[in-house]
Amino acid sequence: MVAGEDGCADGFSKYEALASSLPTSRQGLGSLPYRKHDGFWYPEHLMAPALAMRDAFAARPTDVILATMPKSGTTWLKALVYSVVHRGRHAPADERHPLLASSPHELVPFLHSLYESRSPSAPPGQLLEEMPSPRVLAVHSPFTALPASVRESGCRVVYLCRDPKDAFVSLRHYLDEIKPEGSAMTPSAEAFDLFCDGVSPFGPVWDHMAEYWKESVARPGEVIFLRYEHLKEDAVGSVMRLAKFLGCPFTGEEVARGVPEAAVALCSMDRMRSVEANRSGVHGTASWSFKNSAFFRKGEVGDWKSHMTPEVAQRLDGIVEEKLRGSGLSLAIHRGSASRRFGSGLS
Ligand code: A3P
Repeated sequence: MVAGEDGCADGFSKYEALASSLPTSRQGLGSLPYRKHDGFWYPEHLMAPALAMRDAFAARPTDVILATMPKSGTTWLKALVYSVVHRGRHAPADERHPLLASSPHELVPFLHSLYESRSPSAPPGQLLEEMPSPRVLAVHSPFTALPASVRESGCRVVYLCRDPKDAFVSLRHYLDEIKPEGSAMTPSAEAFDLFCDGVSPFGPVWDHMAEYWKESVARPGEVIFLRYEHLKEDAVGSVMRLAKFLGCPFTGEEVARGVPEAAVALCSMDRMRSVEANRSGVHGTASWSFKNSAFFRKGEVGDWKSHMTPEVAQRLDGIVEEKLRGSGLSLAIHRGSASRRFGSGLS
């Protein structure tokens, strides 16, 4: 491999140059602005890595790609999928399980973070090449910004979406928690206006969801569309459906031994929060690092009620509903209906 072929070293500067030429939002939802590419807004520092990833990443048919908008439950999904896919090597009930020693973000890296790493000794292409199959990797990029090989390889894509109101509240808390010292947050009302205008990390949120939704309807064997609210409502049932989708269904014997329940317990908020790596560790790259503890807050459905008036909530609901009209996707939640709705994908 020559320098630049895998989107790193010399080749990376062309993505940096392209990124810096793109329109900027000037303001973001936290303390940093975004860049716009092909209709979507990217956190400025992730624009070049996302472009490099799109051009250089070569998916394998056995890959599992986890796709989310930030704050939709990515960390939880990473843990659940890792525990399901690797349960042959690491029993979920094992006290020495890797998820009890490392952050889900270390075990399931974000592809854009790998392409952000500019260390010549560890180019992303090489790191990815060395990862054993099945590789579990994560992205925030919209579907249309994924490398063509993701579609062509037929690898599995798991999309997790969350009520935008809860995701917005979660994002504001998170951005406040990780903001660089001395920087100021965009005031709440302005941040909400931006969100409603579609300006958010990897937003507009409705276009992000609609793209993956469309793909899940067109290719249900390769793309599954999940909802955070359904995971909360029926985590065990969701994990069993996930395993089936990923081609590694739980056997009757595993079900009798309570392995799906053990996977859910291992990945529960309380268990994950108690892990030392998640309490005091950090992950990231040379330029950006994130406190692992910032990824575990309340994990509730409907926390927006403590932060938004019904009128404010209705404004966002109305915009999302309007934007999704005609897509076949509705974000209305019907309690107790998770299992029925999962299979058909229609709501
Ligand atoms: P809240 O801020 O609403 O609590 P992401 O992983 O995409 O950054 O999303 C973070 C959100 O998922 C946070 O939501 C966080 O608390 C919640 N979360 C993290 N781990 C979880 C778990 N094991 N179970 C349920 N929710 C979890």
